[in-house]
Amino acid sequence: MAAFAADGNGSDMHTQVGIVGAGPAGLMLSHLLARHGIDSVVLEARDRDYVEARVRAGVLEQGTVDLLDEIGSGERMHREGLVHEGIELRFDRTPHRIDFPALTGGRTIMLYGQQEVVKDLIAARLAAGGDVRFEVSDVRLDKIDSAEPVLSFRHDGRDIDLRCDFIAGCDGFHGVSREAIPRSELTEYHREYPFGWLGILAAVAPSADEVTYTYTDRGFALMSLRSPTLSRLYLQVDPNDDIANWPDRRIWDELHTRLAIDSDWSLTEGPILEKGITAMRSFVVEPMRCGRLFLAGDAAHIVPPTGAKGMNLAIADVAVLADAIAHWYDSGSETGLDEYSATALRRVWRAQHFSWWMTSMLHRFGDDDPYQRQLQLSQLRYTVASPAAAASLAENYVGLLKV
Ligand code: FAD
Ligand code: DHB
Repeated sequence: MAAFAADGNGSDMHTQVGIVGAGPAGLMLSHLLARHGIDSVVLEARDRDYVEARVRAGVLEQGTVDLLDEIGSGERMHREGLVHEGIELRFDRTPHRIDFPALTGGRTIMLYGQQEVVKDLIAARLAAGGDVRFEVSDVRLDKIDSAEPVLSFRHDGRDIDLRCDFIAGCDGFHGVSREAIPRSELTEYHREYPFGWLGILAAVAPSADEVTYTYTDRGFALMSLRSPTLSRLYLQVDPNDDIANWPDRRIWDELHTRLAIDSDWSLTEGPILEKGITAMRSFVVEPMRCGRLFLAGDAAHIVPPTGAKGMNLAIADVAVLADAIAHWYDSGSETGLDEYSATALRRVWRAQHFSWWMTSMLHRFGDDDPYQRQLQLSQLRYTVASPAAAASLAENYVGLLKV
């Protein structure tokens, strides 16, 4: 529990680790620290309902599943999540299967929505007496170079200064943590893509048993699922397109066209519960640390969603960070803290490459370059025909043990 002392103007508190953001990274970090007996306060700008309803990623790597189990939050995931043993690549109107266990020594993935992970992590943290504060505003980071950095924020009508041993910036790409680091300390890497994804959640049984990535003349399409009665589907669209231009009929028509194959198969429609367009980008900032501030997850890096790495990377970062912080409390050694950024960035860059590669292979680029189309088709044919190429996709998709 955070120590708390009122003063004249507002409140002054202390915690060991101040965490900005209650996404997968921030929440998982608070759990991992608690396992080491380290207290934390999680500050979240949005309300709890909003955070729990935000539909995003859905594919969990084995390492993410294992970590959820380790902290005791895996029970509902194992009950409601779906273990998948492969994906489908569709092109030339033909389906091709990538068999994960056969290609990776038995590894699989779990389909379980990010918002379900977030719900489970919040419930377990609060049940354990953890301090997770929603609807905080005006979060500011000060003295990050000192031994006692401060998080100032407003909550429940009070201004609070939270003195910390460490701050973890887990507040996503648009958060304030990264902005607290002087620009001169950081190197940024970017790649923008000339397309976005239109994602829908539909109340209909999935039309395919496995996640299906489709390359067509009209652009990329992806079929995924959340449960036996919930489908998640995506279409490559112009990133600046307005969702108002996509009435449900148009979405289904486009999905039918892109997903069509020559054999006997059809897409089943159902009521669309949610839809939105997300731009795609690749982004990395180095190093992921400045003084006592450590960045994790989307605050430090973004991948395009093809390959489903975003949430898994966020979780992998905080696993490294929690160990480094625990090591410091146990031994006073800075070694883990000093190595955090380089260790996390090795996995980050592997996922950057994989996500860029999947994205480049499967999307139509705006310039309609026939040479590039032939390269994409050749790469797709090679990936499904060569066990070595298929294994490379598979081991990256399920999550590499060593990076
Ligand atoms: P986030 O989940 O972004 O959590 C950051 C938290 O910080 C949020 O709750 C935010 O409200 C809070 N916050 C922000 N600013 C402040 C502040 N100033 N003060 C306090 N709190 C703050 N990945 C995939 O693999 N597949 C997908 O289909 C996919 N779809 C996505 C769709 C969208 C719209 C977005 C934005 C991302 C998507 N991703 C997807 C990526 C994946 O969801 C992220 O990689 C993952 O959420 C990263 O977790 P995180 O905890 O680092 O950040
Ligand atoms: C899902 C999202 C992805 O980005 C992806 O590559 C596969 C599946 C999903 O939301 O289910």
